[in-house]
Amino acid sequence: MVILGLETSCDETAAALVTADGVVLSSVIASQAELHARYGGVVPEIASRRHLELVAPVIEEALATGGATLDDIEAIGVTSGPGLIGALLVGLSAAKALAWSRGVPLIPVEHLHGHVAALYLQPTDLEPPFMCLLASGGHTLLLDVQDRGWENVRVIGRTLDDAAGEAFDKGARLLGLGYPGGAEIDRLAKEGDAEAFTFPVARVAGLDFSFSGLKTALLYAVRDLPAAELEARKADLAASYQRAIVRALTERIAEAAGDGPIAIVGGVAANSALRAALPHATAAPLALCTDNAAMIASAARYSARLESPAFLGLDAHPQSL
Ligand code: KG4
Ligand code: ZN
Repeated sequence: MVILGLETSCDETAAALVTADGVVLSSVIASQAELHARYGGVVPEIASRRHLELVAPVIEEALATGGATLDDIEAIGVTSGPGLIGALLVGLSAAKALAWSRGVPLIPVEHLHGHVAALYLQPTDLEPPFMCLLASGGHTLLLDVQDRGWENVRVIGRTLDDAAGEAFDKGARLLGLGYPGGAEIDRLAKEGDAEAFTFPVARVAGLDFSFSGLKTALLYAVRDLPAAELEARKADLAASYQRAIVRALTERIAEAAGDGPIAIVGGVAANSALRAALPHATAAPLALCTDNAAMIASAARYSARLESPAFLGLDAHPQSL
C-alpha cells in the first residue's frame, strides 16, 4: 500500500507515490517555469489554469511509473498551504475528489513540513532532533526539529524581508539571467571569482536574516559598471553575490546548531556553494530540494488523517499557519 502525494502550491504540478517506510516509487514534476519566464515571475492565474490542465495526467503518470493503480493507494497527502490560493485549490480539489471516490483518507500537509520531510525519505531517513535551514523562494527559516511531526518544530529564526531564494531570483534578474534565477547564478558563479566584489552580509539581532540590503548593493554595483565591463564581470558578480548569501546562511545555522546536527532543505539547498560550505550537514537529495510531491507524501506519513466525508469541508490557506 502506498501514499499518493500531490503538490500544486506554486508553479510545479507534482504527484508522487511513497511507501509507508519512505521509499519513493515515483515522483513526477511538471514545471511551468517556461510559461512564467517571460513575466519574470509566477503569474498566479496562469499557474492555476495550468495546474487544472496538468493535475490528472501528472497523477496518471505517477501511478504508471510507480507500477501502481488507484487500488494500491491507501491515503492521499496534499499541500493545503501556504502558497498561491488558486493553485492550492486545484490540488486540494483533485485530492478530495479522488479520496472521496476511492473511500480513502485525505491528509492535509503544510508545504514547509513537506520540505523538511524530504529528509525522512529513503535512503536519507534522517532522525530528529536536528537544526534545519529551510531556504526556498518564499521562506527562509531556521527550525528546531524535535520529531517528525510538524507540531514539535519550532521556528527560531526567519528572514525579516526577502527569502534567500527571492534574493537569488532578484539578483539573477539584475544580472539579466533567466528565471528562476537561483540555478542560473549557481551555474555562472562557477566561472567567477567570489572575492572580486565585497557585498555586505546584513547583521540583524538574534537568529534572523535580512537579504534586501544585499540586493540593493548588487543593484548599485551593476549600475556603476560600464556596459562592456558589466558583461565581462557578470560571473564575478554572480560568484560574489552568491557568496554573500551563502555566508549569511551558514553563519546563522552554525550559530544556532553549535556542535549539533544540521540539515538543509528547500530550493536554495540545491545550491552547490551552500552544500560545499556545509560538508557536515545532511542535505536533501537535489531532486527533493525544489518543490516536489514525494516530500508531501513523506510528510503525510507523520500527519493526521481525515476520513470521508469530514475532509470535504477542508480549505486551502495562503499563509503559514
Ligand atoms: O522550494 P522551492 O522549489 O519553491 C518554494 O517553495 O519557494 O524553491 C525555489 C527557489 C527559487 O527561488 C530558486 O531560485 C531557488 O529555489 N533555487 C536555487 C537553486 N535552485 C533553486 N537557489 C540557489 N541555487 C540553486 N542551485
Ligand atoms: Zn517549496
